[in-house]
Amino acid sequence: MLELKNLSVRFGGLAALDGVDLALGAGQVLGLVGPNGAGKTTLFNAVSGLVRPGAGRVLFDGRDLAGLAPHRRARLGVGRTFQIPQPLARLTVAENLLVAQRFGAGRVDPARLAEILDFTGLAGKAGHDAAGGLALSELKALELAKALATAPRLLLLDEVLAGLESHGKRRFMAMLAELPARFGSAVLLIEHDIETIHALCPRVAVLDFGRLIADGAPADVFRDPAVVRSYTGTGADADAAMAAGARAAAARAAAADAAAADVDPDPGAGWRDA
Ligand SMILES: Nc1ncnc2c1ncn2[C@@H]1O[C@H](COP(=O)(O)OP(=O)(O)O)[C@@H](O)[C@H]1O
Ligand SMILES: [Mg+2]
Repeated sequence: MLELKNLSVRFGGLAALDGVDLALGAGQVLGLVGPNGAGKTTLFNAVSGLVRPGAGRVLFDGRDLAGLAPHRRARLGVGRTFQIPQPLARLTVAENLLVAQRFGAGRVDPARLAEILDFTGLAGKAGHDAAGGLALSELKALELAKALATAPRLLLLDEVLAGLESHGKRRFMAMLAELPARFGSAVLLIEHDIETIHALCPRVAVLDFGRLIADGAPADVFRDPAVVRSYTGTGADADAAMAAGARAAAARAAAADAAAADVDPDPGAGWRDA
């Protein structure tokens, strides 16, 4: 349903996206990872219509989205969340969803809104206080609820788990796991935590300096030397944590493979010491 062909976005001299080819089928879930500044959010912006690609194409159901405004893309079924929650702060939760549904889906469907409120755990908060006073975990849930209210067939989720404590994170992960079957939407998930990617995504793509450097099953991708290098090549803490996570995941995958093949994992493989 989504096809990116040679997608490139430049900001001045910087190639935020550089010739990205990527395809996602209806109902599929794809994790999108990469160091800070790799171009993940820019990819979402190019798909949802907030930045104009310098080259390449975004196809949705075979249709070229070039020149279509974000609200037109929303009507076609492209929904998204933002890294920083953006509620209409003076409106209630219910009013926020109503606005998202009215303008995103093009029609008001109270039964569906009730289902979304229930699904995201916001039913108790729906009609009372202004959304601006919600706790972070509730704001994150509202961000997801607003995106669902637009009736997306493709949902772009930008670091929706970031900043949540472990209980909130587990609840949110359970929601995300259920989402494709319950709402019939394909999902592109930007997420730093490798364990989360393993838990939720049968497939993961890696961006590095705007280039797609890997695309496949997490067990394979996270032990790809190019992927491990991309995380160990930068000094940031988050990147180091990702590299550690990648090595742990790779070690687990190697152990699982070895168990399946009934041989010892090779302790000398270079990537584990990268
Ligand atoms: N509107 C913009 N103007 C200029 N540079 C931008 C803009 N948006 C993103 N960038 C730059 O593009 C690169 C990719 O950014 P981004 O897509 O936000 O990365 P990620 O989400 O992977 O952390 C970064 O170097 C960032 O500074
Ligand atoms: Mg980002």
